Amino acid sequence: MLKEFTSLFLKHTSPSRRHLTPELVLRLVTPTCPLWSAPVEDSPFTDPFWGFYWPGGQATARYILDNPATVVDRRVLDVGCGCGAGAIAASAVRAARAVANDIDPYAVIASKINAELNEVKIETDTNNFIGSSCKDFDVILIGDMFYDEDFGNLLFTWLTTLAKQDKMILIGDPGRHGLTESRRSRMTLLANYELPKESREENHGYTETSVWKLNKT
Ligand SMILES: C[S@@+](CC[C@H](N)C(=O)[O-])C[C@H]1O[C@@H](n2cnc3c(N)ncnc32)[C@H](O)[C@@H]1O
Repeated sequence: MLKEFTSLFLKHTSPSRRHLTPELVLRLVTPTCPLWSAPVEDSPFTDPFWGFYWPGGQATARYILDNPATVVDRRVLDVGCGCGAGAIAASAVRAARAVANDIDPYAVIASKINAELNEVKIETDTNNFIGSSCKDFDVILIGDMFYDEDFGNLLFTWLTTLAKQDKMILIGDPGRHGLTESRRSRMTLLANYELPKESREENHGYTETSVWKLNKT
């Protein structure tokens, strides 16, 4: 699986710095890739979320690169890592551990390749951490995972429990419906970024993206 996926991944993605963290080069499905405009039935992949750098993930990675103290010497878990940018950013600014986690095994392979491109070391994990105590981690990154209402409910309940246990929960989000007003009232806005042109075109309707910290109470 690894060899076959790696070769397809390299064929269908190209290195990109056209995002909020240009200091990181990430292999993504960009407008220059034939896959970008190919009919779904011609794609060798099902739901290649790892081929895109979602606005929420861009925000958390940007925040970490600008505020290294958030993760320095701390153990960081990037849940739903996709292309791996959150874990890569954490490793780049010297987190004690940076783990890229996704239930899609292709996402962690993509993350590993992207980490190598940036000459940083990350660990990968395909377990579903939702509901777990995350006892081996201090900081949890959630990049753009509030796209679905039911999943958002599950996620927020879990994250609230972790925040009460003193974990730092950083949520990157461009305004998805799952991050409701009542949820936002339980978080502190840390940063707001204007999305670059390419990301605005890719994510119709979103022009900005934000990083929130979930409050302990
Ligand atoms: C919208 S993408 C965001 C990717 C990345 N965080 C970013 O912002 O670029 C959501 C990701 O969450 C992953 N995912 C969904 N459920 C998950 C779970 N229970 N645990 C870990 N990852 C999950 C998906 O496979 C997908 O890669």
